[in-house]
Amino acid sequence: MKESFNLDALLRDNIKKLVPYSSARDEFKGEASVLLDANENAFGSPYSKNYNRYPDPLQHHLKEKLYQIKGIPAEHTFLGNGSDEAIDILFRAFCEPGRDNVILVPPTYGMYEVSANINNVAYKKVNLTASYQLDLDGIAAAIDAYTKLIFICSPNNPTGNSINRHDIETILVNFDGIVVIDEAYINFSKQPSFAQALHEFPNMVVLQTLSKAWGLAALRLGMAFASKEIITVFNKIKPPYNINQATQEIVLEALSGIEQVNGWIKNIVVERDELSALLAELPQVEHVTPSDANFILVKLQEPRSLYNYLVGRGIIVRDRSKVELCEGCLRFTIGTPDENALIYQSVCEFYNNID
Ligand SMILES: Cc1ncc(COP(=O)(O)O)c(C=O)c1O
Repeated sequence: MKESFNLDALLRDNIKKLVPYSSARDEFKGEASVLLDANENAFGSPYSKNYNRYPDPLQHHLKEKLYQIKGIPAEHTFLGNGSDEAIDILFRAFCEPGRDNVILVPPTYGMYEVSANINNVAYKKVNLTASYQLDLDGIAAAIDAYTKLIFICSPNNPTGNSINRHDIETILVNFDGIVVIDEAYINFSKQPSFAQALHEFPNMVVLQTLSKAWGLAALRLGMAFASKEIITVFNKIKPPYNINQATQEIVLEALSGIEQVNGWIKNIVVERDELSALLAELPQVEHVTPSDANFILVKLQEPRSLYNYLVGRGIIVRDRSKVELCEGCLRFTIGTPDENALIYQSVCEFYNNID
């Protein structure tokens, strides 16, 4: 539980003073039969379905459906054009370019650093430990008066492991800025989501996405869960219609497919553990990091040559072998059983050929 937190002290001045754009649909609420307020084309769309009207800026139906699934009320939910939009908004809300800084804990998801660079915000890197956990002393030493955000990805990309909950709580309690917990892969993990602890930590933003377990990457729907006050800030900054109508409609329908998704998650977890065990037995494989995600990080011999061999067979994996603390590693996303069998077979063939 975090006792005191001052959101106003963290916000950039321009955001505190910002008068948000007021869209036509913000200004009129209720039933109407003639909509001549938003300069739309009243005739329709050149398509089998009409998309001529602007969508709901705050995606009420979608948030209601998400509430039924996740139990997090709409006032605590921001929806973005992928969680990448939420990451960008965090920088724009809290970080004064050229003055403030954020803390990153590599190896981790690359967008935090890219977003910092786009926004001209400095970052301090405090590497994870050799076992891919937080270096709490290093983080404490890196925090200064201008540190606004700390990004923690759990389960972490590209390592796949979960970060110790108690360590994350230590940071939440002791850091007076915003702690961002990116749970893009939480559906594959047995760990409970931090989103269930929103009432304990007013300085926490939990990111989730429909791009992974939910199989909806192309629709671009990311979620941020936080206090009502933080969500109000997000909504003030976002483009008025950031989630398009087609995405809102399709996602609303797709969210009914929860049983299918849960079935896939079970399969992926079984496949992940089987492939991990098989690969770990190969003499050329030094280590498979135990994964709570839908991918595995594998340290093995000749990673670059293996990567090229797989590319030659039309199989694309992620080469992380030059990333600090992931030296010698490739990251394999868990695919269908056939794809996983093919990966395993191809890895074996590669090593048999060079022996
Ligand atoms: C940790 C993490 N967060 C966020 C994202 C991006 O999610 P979205 O598709 O919602 O922008 C990814 C994508 O790979 C990721 O690995």
